[in-house]
Amino acid sequence: MTTPLEFEVFTLFPAAVQSFASSGILGRAARDGRVAVHTTDFRQFTDDRHGRVDDAPFGGGPGMTIRVQPVAAALAHVSQQRGAMHRVLLTPSAPRFDQPTARRLAAHDRIGLLCGRYEGIDDRVREHFVDECLSIGDYVLNGGEVAAAVIIEAVARLREGVLGNAASVEHESYDASNRLEHPQYTRPEAFEGWRVPAVLLTGDHAAIHRWRRSAAVRRTFELRPDLLPPLSPHVSYVVLPRGASAASARAFHRVSGLWQPQGDRLRAHARAGARAQPDSRDLRDLRRRVRARHGEDPVWVRVRLAGDAAHADEATSIEMCLTMVDANGGAGAPIVWVLDDDNGAPGRPPHGFAAVLRPRAGPRGPGLADPPGIEHPSPPIAGIPAPAASIEAFASELAATPAATSDSLP
Ligand code: 6GU
Repeated sequence: MTTPLEFEVFTLFPAAVQSFASSGILGRAARDGRVAVHTTDFRQFTDDRHGRVDDAPFGGGPGMTIRVQPVAAALAHVSQQRGAMHRVLLTPSAPRFDQPTARRLAAHDRIGLLCGRYEGIDDRVREHFVDECLSIGDYVLNGGEVAAAVIIEAVARLREGVLGNAASVEHESYDASNRLEHPQYTRPEAFEGWRVPAVLLTGDHAAIHRWRRSAAVRRTFELRPDLLPPLSPHVSYVVLPRGASAASARAFHRVSGLWQPQGDRLRAHARAGARAQPDSRDLRDLRRRVRARHGEDPVWVRVRLAGDAAHADEATSIEMCLTMVDANGGAGAPIVWVLDDDNGAPGRPPHGFAAVLRPRAGPRGPGLADPPGIEHPSPPIAGIPAPAASIEAFASELAATPAATSDSLP
């Protein structure tokens, strides 16, 4: 069996921590000898004859501050009795605990968690007695005990044998891909008329896998866009075709909104008009201006929005596409994104959306590779065939399909 994981929790409320640690999966892991949670009460180590562990802060102000002496004595005692540990001070004034931090901590075999009270702990503890400080989020708790419970649970479950099924830590939210988890459903298929997504009932594992990946990315976009890769330092120009559908227009405005904080990096070229194709004169003119401004030709990226207009989240799809391709891009050349709208074109099967990169002529083509953790530049929409596995493959595929090539780009 692997080495057990030991936590040493230093607290004024050991009972609270113990009751948490002895319940549920953690309690079972403790009984199995995989995890141990020891608690130490600072009060037992004070040298104050009234048994006080705190005192008024120097400089004045409300509240009391935990003294350094009982903390130092408790740490010395426990280290001597049970061995050294990685020492963590729990305080809201600290970097935020997250899944990568949990993985990092899970590599230690002994972890000390020091719970302060919210009024504070003498800062010499931070300066001289701990290896790092952590906060569990941007809000204030009365003390670090709940934070200790959070960290114990998040770290312990990463250790082998703590969860029954080792695979379950691999496909969940905040795994290495930095995406939220896809939605899950179980029986019945229909509850009060609410049906589960049909693709999950097909038994087509490849389709299910695509749907899940797509749903995970979309959900991340909608709920936690901060988790997605940062936009690259390209200057981007976005061109909305004339006569674009409402979905394209919405996508355009959302994308503009998303990128507006990047200020000068986004130039919007929205045109209202009758034609459903980008106007080649506009684009030629744009290219001239980009060249004059940046001293080089832009990379043209065509984003095709197609398929069934009933897909209410096409706007989201476009954003995903833009961000992913952008995150993937080469070394800072200006990019022109052309939102090309084929909706409802007769005789064309719905084919999803995709970005096609038109490399500039010559050896300085942008050579795109899929970014780590993203298998498709444009995750497919349920029911629509997936694009090829890389932008380059998709570009050549599309170039070989007459209906899908464009002669309207300059
Ligand atoms: Cl670690 N301690 C306290 N007192 N409040 C917090 C916290 C920790 N993390 C977020 N809020």
